[in-house]
Amino acid sequence: MQITPMAPRCGVEVSGIQLAEASGDVMEQIKQTIYEHGVAVFRDQELTPEQHIAFGKRWGGVDVNQYFPLQDEYPEIAVVRKNADQETNIGGAWHTDHSYDQIPAMGSMLVARELPPHGGDTHYAHMGAAYDSLTDDLKAEIEGLEAYHTADHVYEEGGLYAQTDMGKELRGQDIKTGAVHPVVIRHPHTGRKLLYVNSGFTINFVGQTREESLPLLTKLLNSAVMEDNQCVVKWQPGTIAIWDNRSSWHNAMNDYQGHYREMHRITFSGEALAA
Ligand code: SIN
Repeated sequence: MQITPMAPRCGVEVSGIQLAEASGDVMEQIKQTIYEHGVAVFRDQELTPEQHIAFGKRWGGVDVNQYFPLQDEYPEIAVVRKNADQETNIGGAWHTDHSYDQIPAMGSMLVARELPPHGGDTHYAHMGAAYDSLTDDLKAEIEGLEAYHTADHVYEEGGLYAQTDMGKELRGQDIKTGAVHPVVIRHPHTGRKLLYVNSGFTINFVGQTREESLPLLTKLLNSAVMEDNQCVVKWQPGTIAIWDNRSSWHNAMNDYQGHYREMHRITFSGEALAA
């Protein structure tokens, strides 16, 4: 197995293995690599839906997404799809998956099934690098803070997606979510400090209104996605990306209007987060 950095602070490409055949030792190396680097890309993979699910279960469990369409035959697989005549894509803003859950998903595994002829890259940002690059004053200001996360404004009736042509494809408009997490968490496996707020789902700091929270929140969100913290996955047929939702954010580019894109995602169960 060879590991090549994608960018100085975020992401690696892993070559020399087929995920469907990964042994226990290789699996452990893959996990550690993803915990550390935030996202890993595997090229030229051959993975059936059954193997996709089986691989997901090797991380401990699968969290079925409550909003995305599911594959008819394989309800563990969420379909991240944009039709040629749709304008809005899924995941087209910086976020980390499921931070609105009390125990957020550990990570996600995205398999490219049908790609547009150009565009449709996914950008990632490393939240360890994001934390490290904050000034000492900012680090002191957020120490001990907690923040409230929800997905209601995104998926509810009349919410952000409902106002777009993606709204009718999604489920769960009546689901209510909400969770409080530390603004700075320690990675459960590496111990590294990570910034744990995100543009998609973090609403306010505990004890502050949204308006009171916005100046600091905006500063953190802008600083997190500075270019040095980022890497980009350019999809090809057979590409799979696996990312850690604690140590990374992602943002799916919506720059392939008029073309179809279909990706299959499994989201791995996580563990409680702590400062
Ligand atoms: C997502 O999981 O947010 C979508 C990522 C992508 O489609 O590239």
